[in-house]
Amino acid sequence: MRSDREEALRQREYIRLTQEILKKQELEKGRKLTFHIETFGCQMNARDSEKFAGILTEIGYEKADREEDADLVLYNTCTVRENANLKVYGHLGKLYHEKKTSNPDMKIAICGCMMQEPDEVALVRQKYSFVRLVFGTHNLFKLAELLYRTETEKGMIVDVWEGTDEIVEDLPAIRKYPFKAGVNIMFGCNNFCSYCIVPYVRGRERSREPEEILEEIRGLAHDGVREVMLLGQNVNSYGKGLERPTSFAALLEEVEKIGGIERIRFMTSHPKDLSDELIAVMGRSKKICNHFHLPLQSGSDPVLKRMNRHYTKAQYLALVEKLRAAVPDISVTTDIIVGFPGETESDFEETLDVVRRVRFQSAFTFLYSKRTGTPAASFEDQVSEEVAKARFDRLLKLVQEIAAEESGKLTGKVLPVLAEEINQQDHALLTGRLTDNSVVHFPGTEKEIGSILQVRLDECKGFYYLGSRV
Ligand code: SAH
Ligand code: SF4
Ligand code: F3S
Repeated sequence: MRSDREEALRQREYIRLTQEILKKQELEKGRKLTFHIETFGCQMNARDSEKFAGILTEIGYEKADREEDADLVLYNTCTVRENANLKVYGHLGKLYHEKKTSNPDMKIAICGCMMQEPDEVALVRQKYSFVRLVFGTHNLFKLAELLYRTETEKGMIVDVWEGTDEIVEDLPAIRKYPFKAGVNIMFGCNNFCSYCIVPYVRGRERSREPEEILEEIRGLAHDGVREVMLLGQNVNSYGKGLERPTSFAALLEEVEKIGGIERIRFMTSHPKDLSDELIAVMGRSKKICNHFHLPLQSGSDPVLKRMNRHYTKAQYLALVEKLRAAVPDISVTTDIIVGFPGETESDFEETLDVVRRVRFQSAFTFLYSKRTGTPAASFEDQVSEEVAKARFDRLLKLVQEIAAEESGKLTGKVLPVLAEEINQQDHALLTGRLTDNSVVHFPGTEKEIGSILQVRLDECKGFYYLGSRV
């Protein structure tokens, strides 16, 4: 197999070749060509889209103002729940209409998790034959090469790999924000939670070498980045498969030492791998944000067992307690699935019980969605839609009540806020975040975006604070 560095060089050659083609097209059209990327799904996909934007910009494309005017439209898809897929097909239908009526030269490409599923690729071939390019999650670094092929070959180009050992990172990327950045520390997932499609579409867990990650973060700090979000499906098991095994806690301690980086976040943690060492590091750290996203999924032991989660309700509650003891004021958020096969009323009550005890700052709640190919899809006792929906509504109500009671706890305090953007409604205000991830609106100017400012939290308006400068 080619080394990752050789592969990156090879892709740079394709970037050069497509640049030449694009220049000719610019001359013909008398203008620059444009791209639009639509990203579905999680932070991993968002990060991948930054890589696509980097490659396309290097090739010579400019960002389109509107999707319908773009010369190249790329859909980076998610398939974690049925809804995610439906959204993509809905969008594609609309796009086809635009292409037919006003933008016939539009080139449409689809990539990401959904395209790792053979049935979805077959559907695209059959029903969406206007799509020019389909590729998956394992070969996303090949974008330039695949675009080149759309220029030199006819028909739909489909290139989807089943898996990979390659981690090709040494290619351009364009970050959405100049002051904060996502950094992949690992790819894939080995946990096989019985409801989840991610291990099948993202492949086995692969950690990046710590030195490579640290080098990337040093570079980001040098470019003015203040906040990094370390990304992986299960960051707590980072480092296990490396030649010289290490731990997530050890990595965090190294990131902490990097000058210029002031805030460290990470996503996502699996309770089964949340170590005491990590909690201790968080307790000591001056930079790790006091927010912990710890997916619960269910509060019922039998359901957790069938979900293949490897922890119990009691263990989950104990972890939250330990976190709160080590990091006072830490905000804990979660993900919960309702209506998992076999979930009884009393199982569901257990979930409500955890929500009442932990009092999450916020929670993402999901209706269980059957994913073909996962073990849970063939479990016999699927919960009826009606029952699941009624439970979902009860859960959401409780989550919202508690979140409302918990919000406002910080009113009156003066805390550091990372200024992220001009407030959409009132241009005299900036919008930023506390380290616990709460949103704050406060007076400020555009040139302060990207700085960490001291703000007094005067008033809480439900899901955000209004603040003043001190
Ligand atoms: N790796 C992360 C989450 C990845 S998916 C973790 O383990 O926490 C994000 C969330 O989607 C999950 O936490 C879960 O709550 C939800 N999810 C995943 N598969 C689902 C399914 N089949 N139906 C409903 N929700 C699902
Ligand atoms: Fe899916 Fe479980 Fe892996 Fe998260 S840990 S991505 S829920 S299999
Ligand atoms: Fe979706 Fe893929 Fe992320 S399935 S949640 S985009 S890893």
